[in-house]
This record gives sequence, structure tokens and C-alpha cells, in this order.
Amino acid sequence: MGHPVVIGVAGGSGSGKTTVARELFRQFQNDSVTMIEQDSYYKDQSHLSLEERALTNYDHPFAFDNDLMLHHLQELIGGRAIDKPIYDFKLHTRKQETVRVEPKDVIILEGMLILEDARIRDMMDIKVFVDTDADVRIVRRIVRDIEERGRSLDSVVNQYLSIVRPMHLQFIEPTKRYADVIVPEGGYNRVALDLLSTKIRDILLEKQQVGKHS
Ligand code: C5P
Repeated sequence: MGHPVVIGVAGGSGSGKTTVARELFRQFQNDSVTMIEQDSYYKDQSHLSLEERALTNYDHPFAFDNDLMLHHLQELIGGRAIDKPIYDFKLHTRKQETVRVEPKDVIILEGMLILEDARIRDMMDIKVFVDTDADVRIVRRIVRDIEERGRSLDSVVNQYLSIVRPMHLQFIEPTKRYADVIVPEGGYNRVALDLLSTKIRDILLEKQQVGKHS
């Protein structure tokens, strides 16, 4: 295995970045690809009560254990397997179990704030920002948080207005400037996905050629 290609897919909550990342993942399944979600690296909060955990600002860069994410990325790039944490959105903390992730040729990093930390950003070959209007993002978030994350409508709306929206404007939106590619409306933008996968294959090939000759 040569040096892997690292692709970052950032964007606000509900932007469709997970769909973009999963579509890319699907296109590379014949090759060797792995996906690392920044959500898995929310800090462990098992030392706090559930009430205290519910009060945490999960949209601030401090909420993430970027040191561990960076370390895991370095390990994968170095050809070593990692034990990726698993996050529980209902209990607001890390689970006891982890999942083993083997090193692969293509690494997709997906998450709201992955372009915010320069150390992680600098390890990416392609930086993508999925840019979706705020009304679409909040509608998607309401549906998802109620269906999948055990939340009430009231709590989703309050959290959005008091935390998610201001943090988006302060921390996520400004990282758009670091992106190589801005994908409007995320999700199933076929043209953008095809362009991205062609570029990823090119870089993969280049790295494999360099690997052969070094
Ligand atoms: O998948 P997505 O990028 O939307 O996940 C990030 C969002 O999850 C953040 O906007 C944050 O508000 C929310 N979150 C939460 N409760 C947690 C951890 C994160 O509502 N315990």
C-alpha cells in the first residue's frame, strides 16, 4: 500500500455531507476505502452526569478530541490499524466498545469541523465543503434528531437557535475558505461526485506510481 489519499468532507449539520461521504465511499468500494467520522471523536464525557452532558456545547471545536483523531489519522497513513471510538448521541458520551479500522488506500474524513483544525486539514489531499441553505439543514436536522437521536421537537429547536446556528456562523462557515471544492446542496449532486471520484482516482494512481519508483 502506498501513501493513502485523504479526502475531507466538511459542512454544517444537515448539509448532506454524510451522504456525499457515503456516496464517495460506495464508488470506491472496489478499491480500498475507509471512512472516519468526526462525530466518533466527540470527547468522552462518562465522568459527567447525563444532565451535565446535555448542557455541553457540541458545536464548539472544544467538544472534539482532535488530538486522538489526528493520532488515528497518522496511524492509518502509516499503515497501522486503529480502534475507532463509538459515540452514543442518546447518552452524549463515548461507548465502552471501539471498532477496529484497518489502513486503506483512500481515507474519507467526514465532519462539521474537520477543516477547522490546521493539523488535520493539512493532511488532506482534497478538501470538500458541502454548502446547503440553512432552512434545508434545519428541516433535515429536526427529522433526524427526533427519529434517530431520541430528541423532542422543542429541544431540537432550542438547541438550534441558541447553539447550532451561532456556532455554525462562527466556526463552520468560515472554514469554507479552505475548501478546494464547494458542493452545493450535497446529497446526490452527481456531477460533483463524479468529478471528485475522478480526481481521487488520479491522485491514487499518482501515489501508486511514486510508491513503485521510490
Ligand atoms: O451529524 P452531524 O454533523 O449533524 O452531527 C453534529 C451535530 O450533533 C452537532 O450540530 C451537535 O449539535 C449535535 N450533537 C448533539 N448531541 C451530542 C453530540 C452532538 O446534539 N451529544
